[in-house]
Amino acid sequence: MDPIVVTSALPYSNDSLHLGHLRSTYLPPDVFVRYLRRKGKDVIFICATDEHGTPIALRAEKEHVNPKEITDRYHPLIKEELTRMGCSFDHFSRTTEEIHYQTTQQIFRELFDKKYIYEQELDLLKCPKCDKFLPDRYVEGRCPFCGFEGARGDSCDGCGRYLRGTELKDPKCAICGTKPALASTKHWFFKLTAFQDRLRSWLTKNEKIPDNVKNYALGWINEGLKDWDITRNMTWGVPIPLKGAEGKVVYVWFDAPIGYISSTKALFKMRGDPEGWRKYWQGKGRIYHFIGKDIIYHHAIFWPAMLMGTEEFALPESIVAGEYLTLEGKKMSKSRGWYISIDGYLKNFEPDPMRYYLISTAPLDRDADFSVDDFIKRYNDELADVLGNFIHRTLTFIEKFFDSKVPKAQLGDGDREMLTKISKAQSEVASSIEALDFRGALMAVMALARDGNKYLNDSAPWASIKADPGKAAASLFTSSQVVKAIASLISPFMPFTAEKILQMLNVSVNIHSEKWEAASSPLPEGHAIGKPFPLFKKIQPADVQGIKEKLLPFKDVGPRVKFDDFKKLKVAIGEVVKAERVKGSKDLLQLHVDIGEYGTRSCVAGIAKYYAPEELLKKRIAVLINLEPATIFGIKSEVMILAAEGEEKVSVLVPDRQVPPGSGVR
Ligand code: 2FM
Ligand code: ZN
Repeated sequence: MDPIVVTSALPYSNDSLHLGHLRSTYLPPDVFVRYLRRKGKDVIFICATDEHGTPIALRAEKEHVNPKEITDRYHPLIKEELTRMGCSFDHFSRTTEEIHYQTTQQIFRELFDKKYIYEQELDLLKCPKCDKFLPDRYVEGRCPFCGFEGARGDSCDGCGRYLRGTELKDPKCAICGTKPALASTKHWFFKLTAFQDRLRSWLTKNEKIPDNVKNYALGWINEGLKDWDITRNMTWGVPIPLKGAEGKVVYVWFDAPIGYISSTKALFKMRGDPEGWRKYWQGKGRIYHFIGKDIIYHHAIFWPAMLMGTEEFALPESIVAGEYLTLEGKKMSKSRGWYISIDGYLKNFEPDPMRYYLISTAPLDRDADFSVDDFIKRYNDELADVLGNFIHRTLTFIEKFFDSKVPKAQLGDGDREMLTKISKAQSEVASSIEALDFRGALMAVMALARDGNKYLNDSAPWASIKADPGKAAASLFTSSQVVKAIASLISPFMPFTAEKILQMLNVSVNIHSEKWEAASSPLPEGHAIGKPFPLFKKIQPADVQGIKEKLLPFKDVGPRVKFDDFKKLKVAIGEVVKAERVKGSKDLLQLHVDIGEYGTRSCVAGIAKYYAPEELLKKRIAVLINLEPATIFGIKSEVMILAAEGEEKVSVLVPDRQVPPGSGVR
């Protein structure tokens, strides 16, 4: 039996995760692995936190702490939230472990010895004040492609392009704001160009790699690959294992995927079998990477090329990239606060309804949306009405009519037909999961529950129990078999629900290790079930608003501004010394505002509908004084008054205490 490694992309250890991450990267492999385990496969599920890179180093520098303190803070949080969602990693390591450093350095050396890594002098940006080179996010400036002001030395958030620091317009040191200068420095490059043809043929031949990944990657290969700069002038990261490389580390994207291997090593070390990792990575291991679509390049190009270069490791069998999840139709964004965190969700709901929603909402290779209304609708219509209702009705009827015992039954054709649907569903779920179609697989389980509901309605044991108890017995015997099968088949998707169903059935197997084939093995006649309880309580219309308020983040504030940009705005208090209507306009007033040391300035303001000129006279109000002057209705307007826009009223801003004209507002 070939060993199987399933991985989830390593989350950076400086932020908590949200629903988008769950959907693309953490839930699908968990379903896969839970199924494979039950098929008796030799599978391990591997992840770790990705703890290097400039965002973490830079944040540490700004907070005056060691980067490790930051990653120490987030590693347990991330691990815990994924565990609470049911992600059943065999090992969740860290890229700051010693074993990771060793493995990365070993692979670096191997590639270096094989001449796939070469040295080159480069002119890079260096901050004269900090006396430091400015890798990646240590430098900020204007994007040369789209003009976006907050572009960074590795990418632009405005247009999404990858950038080099040296391409930025008006670059500034992210720490001290000083303009950097070019300085020469030694770097190491990975010879990606040497793998172009091998990558192309590997991707083309590999039938297990989904088209979205394959097409992206082949597109890049066809555009022509470039050698890859894999070192950085900084101290946070894995040191380069070469003489003359002091003060330089390996680029985070070189060491991160090696984390898949080093986390496997750590797992086997823990199991007391330090060489055990080899058969997964160096033998016939079949490797499945689950990632978000933004990192296809790294997994379908950089990483396989590194593996090819070592001539030692197995190449990925598949790379599954989940497309984006939007929230209420809008792109999720951590920086804009528009997301639902795992923790925020779990404060309000059990993990399984979200597992259900995210797996079933759309195929992984399509974008999907999470909306609270849709979540509640599907929770009520599918989980409560179909799944929960079928199970609850079956078990309460057995409790009521048959003293909580699975009845003895003489089956008719209809009952037998229903029972055949169990094994049909079982093989359909299996083949869909094996084809990495997790949504299709879950839909097959739900179809079985729907069929069960329909069967129960048609056979109506509550109606036949008096006149024809044998018929009622056959119906409830059959339904109870379907309930047991559902518990088993749904376990990879909704592991907590599966356990609860078994608890109600009073079946004490560990469903997560029970053989997949046992899904269709029957509950014996006379088996005493446990106490039924509702699995999913229906959400009432009156509760919907409250749930929205709990789950959804505050209103989207749009793009954030840098503090430095905010500081550019000069707002001050001015006293209105003259106010009059602008001739020919219903909306405009002209105000003369005394702003102390900044002089008396003219302002044309669209507030004539809300204020009579006399009302404003002598008022001290807030004005923006360094806006570019404009001419409105032929009148020069040099400053802008600030006003609050209520639903129906507009109000100028008046300081709470008397302050002199010209006082700055911050
Ligand atoms: O994009 C990210 O969040 C990276 N931390 C993923 C790394 S995956 C792998 F290569 F380790
Ligand atoms: Zn600086």
